[in-house]
Order: sequence, then C-alpha cells, then structure tokens
Amino acid sequence: MIPSGKARVAGVFGWPVGHSKSPRLHGYWLDRYKIDGAYIPLPVAPENFIEALRALPRLGFAGANVTLPHKEAALAAVDRADPHARRIGAVNTIVTAPDGTLDGSNTDGYGFLENLRQGAPGFDAAAGPAVVLGAGGAARALIAALIDAGAPEIRVVNRTPERAEKLIEALGGPCRMVPWAERAAALDGAALLVNATRLGMAGQGPLDLPLDGLPKSALVNDIVYAPLETPLLKSAKARGNRTVDGLGMLLHQARPGFRAWFGVDPEVTPALRAFVLAD
Ligand SMILES: NC(=O)c1ccc[n+]([C@@H]2O[C@H](COP(=O)([O-])OP(=O)(O)OC[C@H]3O[C@@H](n4cnc5c(N)ncnc54)[C@H](OP(=O)(O)O)[C@@H]3O)[C@@H](O)[C@H]2O)c1
Repeated sequence: MIPSGKARVAGVFGWPVGHSKSPRLHGYWLDRYKIDGAYIPLPVAPENFIEALRALPRLGFAGANVTLPHKEAALAAVDRADPHARRIGAVNTIVTAPDGTLDGSNTDGYGFLENLRQGAPGFDAAAGPAVVLGAGGAARALIAALIDAGAPEIRVVNRTPERAEKLIEALGGPCRMVPWAERAAALDGAALLVNATRLGMAGQGPLDLPLDGLPKSALVNDIVYAPLETPLLKSAKARGNRTVDGLGMLLHQARPGFRAWFGVDPEVTPALRAFVLAD
C-alpha cells in the first residue's frame, strides 16, 4: 500500500544501516495488514544521533528502532526507559508518547524467547540448566530474559572471562561463569544450549564445540542466522536434538514496536521468513 499524507511513520537508526533487514520486515507487515504507514532506514552518524532522536516527535514519527552503534546512547537519550532495558543497558525500540516524550525498551530478549516458544512448542526455560556461549550485547539481553523466565541455572561461557564476570554482576540471577576452555564439559545435564557468539557466522571463525556431553533432550538454538543452518545446528540436528534457528529472534523482536506504532500485533509466518531471507 502506498502511504498517504496521513501515514504513520517509523524507521530504524543505524550507522551504517544499509544491511538492516528491518525496513523489509516492517514493509512486509504494512503491506500484509494494509496499513497506511511507512518504515524507513535512518542512517545517522553517532555525533548526530541524539539530535536526530530528539527530532522524532517534531517530525511526527510514531517511533523508531535503534541498531548498532546507537543502542547504549539511546538508553541515555530517551525520557523513560523500561526496567528491562535499563538492566540490559541498551534500547532498541522507541515509541513517541502523545505528549512528544520518548519511551525506550529492549525487545531482543522477548524476541529470543518468542522464537524458542514458536520453534520448539512446549519450551519452558524453567525446565533445566541453560548454557549460553557469549557475553556480548545479544547474550546480555537473552540471559536477562532467561532469568525472568525462571531458568534454574545459567552457565555463561565466554572467551574473555572479564566480560562474562561483568555481565553476571550486572544481571545477577542463577548465572555462573564457565571458562571457555571448559565449554564442552559445561553441556553436561543442560536443557538448553544457545550460541550467542559470532562464531559460525559467515565470514567468522567456526565454533569448535563437541556435543558428546549434551543430553539428546536438550534444545539447541543459534542466534546467528547467516547461514540459517549453522554448523552447530546441523550437528545438533544430526544427533537428534531439537533445534531452532536465529532468524525468528530478529522477526519476533520487531513485533512490539510494530504493535505500538501501527496498532496491529503482526504474525511471524513461514511466508515472512522466506520474504526476509530472499533479500
Ligand atoms: N538473531 C538475532 O536477532 C540476533 C540479534 C543480535 C545479535 N545476533 C548475532 O549474535 C552475534 C553476537 O552479537 P552481539 O551483538 O552480542 O556481538 P558482540 O557484543 O560483539 O559480542 C560478540 C560475542 O562473540 C564472542 N566472540 C567473537 N569472536 C570470538 C572468537 N573468535 N572466539 C570466541 N568468542 C568470540 C565475543 O567474545 P569476547 O567477549 O571474548 O570478545 C562475544 O561474546 C552476532 O553474530 C549477531 O549477528 C543475532
């Protein structure tokens, strides 16, 4: 649908932003639900970000997503950030309130959990120990979500131990640090294994992790989605584990923003996945 003069408008801030799948994703939903709206890329350099963000209400924007490298700056710049975003230290979704002030939230952890719920029906974070590889921004968001969803134990495995320690200190919960060298042993008795490092992504190094110690009942998720079936997911599937790929996390994290800006809770469907992947 071509936007009219009354269209609701949102966008995504990033620098660069050309690789972002968000315009295509939101564009698909706008078309699918026949909404009079537009969602556009907003390439804004870090030195201009705060000014650009503060201009959103004056430009009539319903809100925006925020991607790298602006997520931390967005937390400081919004008028109100929800407690979850404050805990993670980053904002990825901004909604303009009727009085022109800005509300910030972080939906990455929501997207992570919704992806597991949709991809592995019956998934329950409280079912057993989780092993999370990585302690970067994405790991922080999904570990906070796992804590809130009742995970009884979270083993955080990261190459740089100081980063894992900092994350655990900030988030608390049932987290404990496992040295990177002991990652294979950390799989013992796990109910969930998540790769939240860059390893296994096209152009990055391989993830060297023998799965022998992982229970066959464990769910395996890779948040890397390029390639869609990472070597980790391939070997987990081959030995009989249930697997969920990372694309759904990206798609589900977009839902709360779309709902707030355009008034519809959009669905994540096979057709949407195919459309986003065809980019
Ligand atoms: N599916 C989704 O919606 C979604 C959302 C966000 C991110 N992602 C993906 O998740 C990955 C992580 O993103 P991020 O934003 O958290 O990145 P980040 O903050 O830069 O963190 C990168 C993580 O990868 C680890 N790592 C990088 N190279 C490594 C190596 N050679 N050996 C061992 N560990 C290594 C880092 O360990 P150190 O701390 O030791 O450097 C750190 O834990 C990326 O591939 C990104 O595309 C997916």
